[in-house]
Amino acid sequence: MMRVVVVTLFPELFETFGQTSLVGRAVREGMLEIHTAQLREHGLGKHRSVDDTPYGGGSGMVLRVDCVVAAIEAAEVTLGARAHRVLLTPQGQPFRQTTAARWSQLQNVMFICGRYEGFDERVRSFVDEEASLGDFVMTGGEVAAMAMIEASARLIPGVLGNDASSAEESFSSVHGGGLEYPQFTRPVSFRDLEVPEVLKQGDHAKIAAWRREQASDRTRDRRPDLVDRDGEDEAQ
Ligand SMILES: C[S@@+](CC[C@H](N)C(=O)[O-])C[C@H]1O[C@@H](n2cnc3c(N)ncnc32)[C@H](O)[C@@H]1O
Repeated sequence: MMRVVVVTLFPELFETFGQTSLVGRAVREGMLEIHTAQLREHGLGKHRSVDDTPYGGGSGMVLRVDCVVAAIEAAEVTLGARAHRVLLTPQGQPFRQTTAARWSQLQNVMFICGRYEGFDERVRSFVDEEASLGDFVMTGGEVAAMAMIEASARLIPGVLGNDASSAEESFSSVHGGGLEYPQFTRPVSFRDLEVPEVLKQGDHAKIAAWRREQASDRTRDRRPDLVDRDGEDEAQ
C-alpha cells in the first residue's frame, strides 16, 4: 500500500484524479491513498500569504521557506509518519520509469508542488529529492505530481490486473530499458496498412524474435539516448 500526500495550493485538482480510471480503482481497492495538504493553511497574515518578493530583486514571487516547511511537517503529523519528500521542480532529476519503480515500493511519499517563481532555495534542505517531469517549465507542480503518482501507482503490485503487463512495457528491463515493440489488433487490414505476416502465423519463437528486433531497432532509431541505459538509476 502506498500513501501519497500532496502539498499544494490547488488540492481540488486531485479530486477527480483520485477517483478515475486505474488510480481510482487502486484507491478504492485500498492499494493507494492520495491525501492533499493545503499550503495556504500555513500562510501568514489575513491573506494567508505563502509567497514574497525575491531578495536581490527580480520579477515574480517566491514561496517562503517557513510556510512550506510548516506545511510539510503538519502533513506528516496528519499522516502519522515521516514521508519520502519529493520537491517538484524543473531543476530536479528527470523522472523516469526507474524512479516510478523505486517510489512504488515506498509506504509514504510526499509531493511538494511549487507555484509562482518556485521555492526559496532553503526549502531544498528539507526534502529527500527533487524531481522534474522534463525539460520544460509549467506553472505549477500539480500536473507533474499527477503524472508521477500515476506512473508509480501502476507499479504497485496488484494494481495492474496482470502484473506481467508492466514488466513488458517500454523502459522495462525486458526491453533493456528501451521502447516496446509495435502492437497490432483487428482489423487485419486497414486501408493499405497490414498486420505483419509473422504475427499472424502463431510461431511463438519467431514472434518473440521479431518483437525483440523491432524493440531494439525502434529504440536505436527513436531514442538512442536509452541504449545502454538499462539498470542505470537516476541520482537520489
Ligand atoms: C514557473 S515554475 C518555477 C520555475 C523556476 N523559476 C525555475 O526557473 O526553475 C513554478 C513551479 O512549477 C513546478 N514545475 C514547473 N515545471 C516543472 C517540471 N518540469 N517538473 C516539475 N515541476 C515543475 C515547480 O513546482 C515550480 O516550483
